[in-house]
Amino acid sequence: MELTKLVEGLPSVSATRPYFNHAVEFKRPTTTEERARMLESVGLNVFMFPAELVSGCDLLSDSGTTTMTNKQWASLHEGDVSYGSNRGYYLLARQVRETFGPEFFTEHAAPPNAFLFHQGRPAESALFTAIGRLGRNLTIPSNGHFDTTQANIEANGMRALSLFSPDLNGGSDSRFKGDMDVDALKKLLQASAANVPLVFITITNNTGWGQPVSMQNMREAAELAHHHGIPLFFDACRFAENAWFIKQHESGYGKKSISEIVREMFSHADGFTISFKKDGLANMGGGLFLRRNGLFFKKYPAVPDELIGSQILKEGNPTYGGISGRDIMTIVEGLKTATREEYLAHRIGQVRQFGERMLGEKLPVVTPFGGHAVYLDVNKFFDGTKMRPDDFGGISLTALLLAAYGHRACELGYFAFGKHDPKTGKESFPPNNFVRFAVPRLRYEQQDLESVSEAVKALHESRDKIPPVKATYGRDLPLRHFKARFEFAAR
Ligand code: F0G
Repeated sequence: MELTKLVEGLPSVSATRPYFNHAVEFKRPTTTEERARMLESVGLNVFMFPAELVSGCDLLSDSGTTTMTNKQWASLHEGDVSYGSNRGYYLLARQVRETFGPEFFTEHAAPPNAFLFHQGRPAESALFTAIGRLGRNLTIPSNGHFDTTQANIEANGMRALSLFSPDLNGGSDSRFKGDMDVDALKKLLQASAANVPLVFITITNNTGWGQPVSMQNMREAAELAHHHGIPLFFDACRFAENAWFIKQHESGYGKKSISEIVREMFSHADGFTISFKKDGLANMGGGLFLRRNGLFFKKYPAVPDELIGSQILKEGNPTYGGISGRDIMTIVEGLKTATREEYLAHRIGQVRQFGERMLGEKLPVVTPFGGHAVYLDVNKFFDGTKMRPDDFGGISLTALLLAAYGHRACELGYFAFGKHDPKTGKESFPPNNFVRFAVPRLRYEQQDLESVSEAVKALHESRDKIPPVKATYGRDLPLRHFKARFEFAAR
């Protein structure tokens, strides 16, 4: 009997990871006592806790924390760190054209259309500094601005407006809760298109819990913006994860390749900012890319030269833009891996499995799961206990998780996005109160993440005993979650 026939008759089993460990790094074992003492010494601020002592999973961010592939490590050696026009510059240009479309990176174009920066936010800063000079009372609408994007818009005297989909907070079972509220965008543009220099779409919508954006929504937003003569931009950090959701869940895309879907997504954009620390699978790097001779170019002809000026002042020669020539090579290689289907199936599947495990433990996590993180609803977690909003239960929870179990997550809720009014002594709170468990790419195995859900479950079972915290420093500072210190308080 033929072997292929024999195998056909056998049942299928669960798949392995699409890669194997090429090199591993042993963690430093720590004790709960060591971690607790250290955490107290940094005022319970998990951002200031030494990463070396995180003996569990470090889920603080999925940004810059990717485990690189053997090809990325090898590419570092191929990197050329020349001051002008290093090898990686040309390879990255080719790869950006290949991944996003031929119009987005022309080497040494005059005027320039591709700008490298050391990460995402300096690209945002350069863009919004230039845009902010174009007029007064300007508004930049988005499906959900990331906090640095919002801060860079506001720092340049403009209004950052997040038009979240009505599905995001509602009970809808939409798979594209990251969409832009296009009806709200329509109203805004009808009323004041002249004050809108750019429309932004963040893919996936990080502030909207990592939820993806549908192709239809991108198309509709682009049509609306273009109808009013306004360029559409992407904040493209997690473009590949977004494309995977489109392939899985949007009708008409199931048979298309990820590369085709990405190209179609970017066919709607006149430009994009990106942090390569996410779907670039790199540890460093960012950029700003403009469609050559596109709407942005035509409308704001002075901006490209201004952007190059900003690169030279702050980042170095534009051909490396603050990223070392070696790191540029890892981005080139990372972009190739990021759109591989077996990689994305594993990546998104791992986050989903982690979320489902939490759900199975009856933990109040946000569903459906997004691409890069699982979000725990702190208010529901402490439901029925004495924890009040200004007790900052999310801070208590992340501190205990780290001290007791060695896992690091971050509060993105009432403390991170709330504000204290020193005059009244009152706090104002954002709509959601979450702890985010961001999953670094290619770094952890299922067993690691299972330990996290077990730990959160254990804390949930003891939630009555979790004390509040009070801020001992930094409660009034902007971006206070990075700076504040706390101590556990008696009730
Ligand atoms: N835009 C989005 C959607 C982001 O998620 C981030 C970073 C940035 C822009 C800024 O990029 O860090 O390279 O300057 N997000 C990280 C996070 C920090 O943990 O979500 P950057």
